[in-house]
Amino acid sequence: MRLDEHRVVVTGAGRDFGRSLAISLAELGAEVFLAARSLDAVERVREEIRGEGGSAHAFACDLGVPASVAAFAAAVSERTDRIDVLVNNGAPYLQTGGLTAADDEQIVDTIGAGATGTVLAVKHFLPLLLASERPDIVTMVSACGETGHHRSEAHEAFYAAKSAQAGFTEILSKRLRPKGVRVISLYPPDFDNPDRRSEEWAAEREAQDELSARSLVDCVLFAIGQPRDCFIKSFYFEQR
Ligand SMILES: NC(=O)c1ccc[n+]([C@@H]2O[C@H](COP(=O)([O-])OP(=O)(O)OC[C@H]3O[C@@H](n4cnc5c(N)ncnc54)[C@H](OP(=O)(O)O)[C@@H]3O)[C@@H](O)[C@H]2O)c1
Repeated sequence: MRLDEHRVVVTGAGRDFGRSLAISLAELGAEVFLAARSLDAVERVREEIRGEGGSAHAFACDLGVPASVAAFAAAVSERTDRIDVLVNNGAPYLQTGGLTAADDEQIVDTIGAGATGTVLAVKHFLPLLLASERPDIVTMVSACGETGHHRSEAHEAFYAAKSAQAGFTEILSKRLRPKGVRVISLYPPDFDNPDRRSEEWAAEREAQDELSARSLVDCVLFAIGQPRDCFIKSFYFEQR
């Protein structure tokens, strides 16, 4: 599969899963528009991709700051008249020993960037997506967004943020389907993020039966690579 004609936005692309996904997309020929809170971090990813002949652009975006999300979308729209895929990947993780152990600011950041930031990203990128002939919105939710899930050590605010993403993408998939947009959501349990270029990355999937970041990258690539009649709405994973 090649993605040569695809223009893809990835949030939280400065490290970990977002970086791995961005590099994989670019290897398949996609032009990637990458954002992270730290411009330095995402510029390093951009240079990694360009160093291997890929096409990448870097932007600063703090999903917890509405003006920053709007500015990111505006900056991307100066470079392209359409986006084919928006990947809502960036979201802060919060793990503490109980509801009262996190301070108020951590709770506001977790829900603000994870939930509100995702809604705002879709809102501001929707015009560019609707200019595509094959628009997809991919969201890295979490098993924490599944009703009744309780097996993560994540803070309650993280559960709240991921449940909000789940509710948002659910209604979005219904409302945007008539406009030709596939809204694809992934609900993975905890997974490790070995460096995309490390031997662990290559060996990860074979070495253990826990869900690997590499397999999740493959899920995203598979879903967006399907013809338009094949709308894979959600990926759920059995937790070990
Ligand atoms: N790893 C897991 O076990 C797991 C399981 C289920 C779902 N997920 C979801 O999958 C996605 C990627 O996971 P990951 O393991 O790569 O997460 P991670 O290691 O916790 O990294 C979080 C990512 O989100 C970005 N981010 C955090 N706050 C942000 C903000 N205010 N504005 C913009 N970006 C922000 C981070 O960027 P900075 O560099 O700026 O901090 C980083 O790129 C996340 O949505 C996560 O919730 C992960």
